[in-house]
Order: sequence, then C-alpha cells, then structure tokens
Amino acid sequence: MDHSKKAFARHTVTAALPYANGPIHIGHLAGVYIPADIYVRYLRMKGEDVVFICGSDEHGVPITIKARQENVHPQVVVDKYHHQIRDSFARFGISFDVYSRTSAKIHHETASAFFKTLYDKGVFIEKDTAQHYDEESGQFLADRYITGLCPHCSYEKAYGDQCENCGTSLSPDELINPRSVLSGNKPVMKNTRHWYLPLDRYEPMLRQWILESHRHDWKPNVYGQCKSWIEQGLQPRAVTRDLDWGVKLPLEGTEGKVLYVWFDAPIGYVSATREWALSAGEDWEKYWKSDDTKLVHFIGKDNIVFHCIIFPAMLKAEGSYILPENVPANEFLNLEGDKISTSRNWAVWLHEYLDEFAGKQDVLRYVLCSAAPETKDNDFTWKDFQARNNNELLAVLGNFVNRTLVLTHKYFDGAVPGAGHYGPEDEKALEGMQAFPDSIGHSLDHYRFREALSGLMNLARLGNRYLTEAEPWKVYKTDPQRVETTLNICLQICARLAVLSAPFLTFTSDKLLKMLNMSPMGWEDAAKPVLLVAGHQTGRPELLFERIEDSQIEAQVDKLLKTRETNRESAPQPAPLKENIAFDDFARMDIRLGTIVSADKVAKTRKLLRLTVDTGVDRRTVVSGIAGHYNPDELKGRQVVILANLEPRTIRGIESHGMLLMAEDSDGRLAFLSPDKPLDNGSLIG
Ligand code: MF3
Ligand code: ZN
Repeated sequence: MDHSKKAFARHTVTAALPYANGPIHIGHLAGVYIPADIYVRYLRMKGEDVVFICGSDEHGVPITIKARQENVHPQVVVDKYHHQIRDSFARFGISFDVYSRTSAKIHHETASAFFKTLYDKGVFIEKDTAQHYDEESGQFLADRYITGLCPHCSYEKAYGDQCENCGTSLSPDELINPRSVLSGNKPVMKNTRHWYLPLDRYEPMLRQWILESHRHDWKPNVYGQCKSWIEQGLQPRAVTRDLDWGVKLPLEGTEGKVLYVWFDAPIGYVSATREWALSAGEDWEKYWKSDDTKLVHFIGKDNIVFHCIIFPAMLKAEGSYILPENVPANEFLNLEGDKISTSRNWAVWLHEYLDEFAGKQDVLRYVLCSAAPETKDNDFTWKDFQARNNNELLAVLGNFVNRTLVLTHKYFDGAVPGAGHYGPEDEKALEGMQAFPDSIGHSLDHYRFREALSGLMNLARLGNRYLTEAEPWKVYKTDPQRVETTLNICLQICARLAVLSAPFLTFTSDKLLKMLNMSPMGWEDAAKPVLLVAGHQTGRPELLFERIEDSQIEAQVDKLLKTRETNRESAPQPAPLKENIAFDDFARMDIRLGTIVSADKVAKTRKLLRLTVDTGVDRRTVVSGIAGHYNPDELKGRQVVILANLEPRTIRGIESHGMLLMAEDSDGRLAFLSPDKPLDNGSLIG
C-alpha cells in the first residue's frame, strides 16, 4: 500500500520531548522542531484536524546527575529548564497545542497505568540479576551513572546506555573497566529485580510493519537503522531502574524502583494529549486509538530505536493504540565544523539568539530549514546564516515584495490595479505560480522540508524575474495599462507568497498579510488565480528583512572562539613529568625494532590481541590490549618498538614476552611508535 495516499481523519504529530537539563539549541531546532512546526502549520492550513504535542522530558539520569552537580533537588533543575524551554519555543513561534512535562501528575498517572496494564497482561519478564552497584554511594549504577571503555570503538568515556563516540547503544555489563560516575570507584555486583519488555516477541510484528509495510515511505536513514536493529536480533529490555527520580512502579514492595526514562517519556506524548484534551474539551483517545488517525513522530536520529522499535512494541503490547505512520528522523547539525555539545557549550542557544536577534525568528527558521540535516549531517556557519539572509531572504523574497508594493503605491495609490489583457509572458507567470501550492505541498507531504522551502523561494524568483523583465518603471510612461497588468500579477504572486510562506516564515507571513491587507487563507485557496481583486487597497510597504552586517556575524564568531578558548583551557592537562632517572636505569631496558608478523583476537576477550613479533633475534608472542583500537588485519607487517626484556607475564593463559611501546592521549586514544623509515628488525633504540 502507498501509505502517503491513505486517507486520515485526523493527525497526531509529536516532537521529541527535550530533556529538561539544558536549553534548546539550533541542533534541536533544525532536526526536530522546525520541520514538525512546518508540517503542522501546513496541515492546519489544509483544514486538517491536528494536535501538535510536546513537553519536557524530566526524568532520567542526565537530570539527576546535573542536580547532584548543582547540589539541588532534580525538581529544581527541571523547573528551571522546563520554563526556559517552553518560553523560548513560544517566542520562536513553535505552535504546539500543548507543551506539557513528565513530572506532571497526569503523566505519572498515565505512565504508571500503562505499565500496570502491561504488567496485568503478563507482558513483562520479571528477573533477578546481578547489577553494578556503587557501595560508597549506596546506589545501583544504571545508564549514565556508569562509564567505561566502549567495546566497539574503545572510547574511554562510554556510558552504560550508549557510547557517544560511535553511537552504539550499550548495557552496563558491556563496558570494559567500568567505573561509577558518582565516586569513580569500581562497582561491585549486587542482585536486584527488574521488569523486562520482551522485544524479541514483537520481532515478527516489527518486521512486517516496518520492513515490509514501510519499506518505501520511511526515510532510508530511519528504515536502515530499524533494519539493522531487527536483524541483529531483539533482546528483552529492562524497563525499570533502581532510582528514586522518575515514575514509581505501581507494584507492592518495589520501593526505590522507577520506570526507565525511555519507558515513561514516550508515554509523555499520551499524557500531554490528555492534558490538552481536558482543557480543549476533546476526546484524547481518538488521537491515539483510532485507525483513521495519522500518528507522526518528529525526532533526531539518536531517538530512532526508541520510537520505531521500543515504543511501538509497548503500544502493541498494550493493545488499544495505533502505531506511527511515519517517523521522519533527521541526522545531526554541526556548528562551524564541530559537533554541537551542551557540555562544551558548543551551540547557538535559542534563548540567546532570540535576545540578540530580536524580531529575526524567521531568519533562523529559514536558515535551519534550508540547511536541515535531512539526509546527512550538515553544518551551520554564521557566514552561511548571513549569506542566506542577505542574498536570499532579502535579495529575493524581500526585494520582490518591496518592489511590487512600492510601485503599486507609486502608480496606483496602493490599490490593486485591474488585470487587463494578458500577453504570453503574463500567461506564463500566471500558470507558473498556480502550480506552487501543489508542488510545495507534495514536498511537505513527503517530509522534504528543504525542497518545500526552496519551492517557496522559486515562487519569489519567478516573481522577481517577471517583474524585472516587464520593467514597469520604464513602461509606465508609454503604456500605463500594461503596468496595471504587470502589477496585478505581481500582487497575486505576493499574496500567494504571503499564504504559502506561513508554515515556514510565520512572522513574515503575518507581516506580509497585513501589508497586503488580506486575511489568512487555506493552503488550497492559494491555487486560485485571483487572490486580490482589482480595487483592493493594500497597506504601507515595510521592509520584510534587514541586512545582516559583518559586525553582527563577527560578534557571534568571536563568542564561539571564546568558547573554544575556554574549552582548551579546561581540557585535560598532560601528565606531569616523572622524576629524573640515571642513564643506567635507561640503559638496562632492551628497546628495539620488531615487526608484527601475525595478529589474532584472544578468544572470549574484547580487548586482547595475541601478536607474534619478529625482534630480529627471535619470534615471540606478545599479548596486547589493543583490540578495540586496531583490527588484527591492519597490524600485520607493521614495524613497532618493543620493550623486549620486560619480565614475561601470563595473560589469559598466554605467556606474553615484552611490551609494545605506544602513546596514549587523555581521551584514551592509542598510537604506535614507528620508525620514519624501515630499519632492520632488532635495531636497538637508545
Ligand atoms: N529527551 C529525549 C532526547 O532529547 C527525547 C525523548 S522523546 C520521547 O533525546 F519520546 F521519549 F519522549
Ligand atoms: Zn563506541
């Protein structure tokens, strides 16, 4: 079935609930909130019944860690950010029907009832297992309370739920050399009971629903991630945690246990819908349980598995809910070539932008939509921001509208002139402009927001070209009637721009509607040939956009340079110098060149490689903990430096003779020392 053609009676559109542990930045906006808002505004203009849902995600370990750092209760942290986030979204024109929060009573009730339903249906597997426990702080170490070496990429600071370096999701027992984030201690193992959602049981359903039904209408990045998850084999996943911040388990004798944040947060969409329905006098269930409702989740790529696999399995297990029709996840936005990072303050923060660029919401909406990371990661730069404002918004859209209105006022006192007789170039322009609502709409229906926005700009370009070629400022002297036709058509294009820009550039659209003295219109109305009748009085022309000067951009770039400087200063310092030693101490070491002749993984270990090294005097076995850094294949034939007279050691039953010398940086990255040209094996180093 072609899902894009299925008829729906209403739409439930959700935008990922942001964590209430930091402000909103441009990455969030470009990836999730701008596309979601455009989509919803477009649906509303088509007269669709739609509810747009969001709220703060207030549970989870990142929030309790932040509270601990600031020595306050988690509620204090989430209160601060919840209000800041809610207000900055509102100022930016993100048109949620409800912005709720997961610490709300209605959410605790909804989430715990949901869990209870699954529990009563016998969905969960209840299991006692040994888990990492920090004796000093008296706490189990779930998720981000535990760090260690990533078994996939060897990143040193992988978390118990995910490695932020390679993006793989992890469980605490996969971490190599785990440590408690709370005390830095090595954890002990302690028994505890948890409830698991048996994802494996939903595999046939997921396969059929995603891999078959949605093969063609889901974005390739989303489909691909789902496929790889499903094909790796789904495992039961714990949906409870030993924490005291979160939704309490609705079961007797489970004090100190809460729902896993990724179990409760997506239910937050439902709670928020209920909250909205209560105040709007609506029936929330229609929006979640009716087959003719189209559910769409807007998220970033790090959320795909939760929205496409785990939440759907939960919804299915519950039994009365619909599944999402689409999950148009975006990739990531970088900033000036570097990954956006809240902890490194490498971001453009929405609340700061709104203060520093007052009244310029649409510039950011425009730039972030044009550069949205729809199919691959993308980069935001301030130079590009300036160029898009000056060369596109101002020079194309603003310029066309301004020329049209100024001329209308100059020649016709602001009244729309009659259309008169159409020549071929007029026919062409009229025909051209009527196609835009459909073609932009088609892009939006398929979640191609960049394409849709460039369609809108093409309409302005069409107007500009038409106006420039018609040259009314010259023609007026000889043929004022011709100018009536030209400006009539230009005004029809302006009106169309006013209507069609509304989902993207909402503030500009309002301004333009006011300038044209017209009321908002439906999307389909914009396809009509005449939007402004002859004689209609337009308002005073005002500039839609202002030039952004170099100095404004430099100020922003300077701010980022300062951040870079601060980060560099607080970067880990190199280890202090060791005490002096005598030359003899050094001379006792037998350091020489050797060549790795073979390399194999040591079975049942993640880190260890068994190497055979030709030292010139012998061939010997060296066991080395570098499996996370190098593939055995890439090591064969490499010349290395070996400390050959280090006392032999038995590692995992293998006797290791010597040590390869390597450099290690503060991020735990390793590098071999290799001669700048090959010399004979056995060459002494000193
Ligand atoms: N807070 C999560 C994040 O920022 C998103 C939660 S989405 C929800 O990555 F579905 F769980 F609500
Ligand atoms: Zn990793």
